[in-house]
Amino acid sequence: MHREYGKRKLGIFGDLPPLIVELGPGSGSNFRYYPRGTRVIAVEPNPMMLKRMYKQADRHGVEIDLRHAGAEGMEVESESADLVVSTLVLCSVRDPVRVLAEVRRVLTPGGRFAFLEHVAAEPGTRLRKVQDAIFRPWHWLGEGCHLNRDTASTIENAGFSDLELDRFDGSGQMPYRPHISGFAIR
Ligand SMILES: C[S@@+](CC[C@H](N)C(=O)[O-])C[C@H]1O[C@@H](n2cnc3c(N)ncnc32)[C@H](O)[C@@H]1O
Repeated sequence: MHREYGKRKLGIFGDLPPLIVELGPGSGSNFRYYPRGTRVIAVEPNPMMLKRMYKQADRHGVEIDLRHAGAEGMEVESESADLVVSTLVLCSVRDPVRVLAEVRRVLTPGGRFAFLEHVAAEPGTRLRKVQDAIFRPWHWLGEGCHLNRDTASTIENAGFSDLELDRFDGSGQMPYRPHISGFAIR
């Protein structure tokens, strides 16, 4: 994770505020990038993730404030965060349009939504045909992951005032590519 995405993550997070809302932090792979003492509102509905998440939080000195509800209805106050982070999460949520509306709600005006996600390959490519063909077993085995989701369009249409979005391949031969990374400003 760090070797593959580390540099990009640091680029999209920008100046790190003392409070970060992170969607689906999972095992806490982003905590290493946050300054010690950061308070992370962790929007993580999967209890299976919590043990590893707290271990990483301890290791990197970040304070966890856990919210159990999914990001579609996150229990976070409106206009309370200058930074919302989502890495490899929008592929798994039930309703990405709803999640992005929630992200806009909790961001302060001018606040930043930093994202890094794997997305659908171009229609008609061999990779896209593979993604479409293995969608069901992948979705089942990958805990709800949608291999062929057009997350770039969803972010582009979410009503942010400014958007920087970069497309990159990544992940060698694996079907969870290409990727997008960037940030959107409320
Ligand atoms: C592939 S993992 C990515 C974990 C971490 N963000 C990373 O980059 O390593 C996907 C995460 O999204 C979480 N997730 C799934 N559905 C969610 C939802 N509706 N709201 C918030 N998180 C969700 C999962 O529990 C899991 O922790």
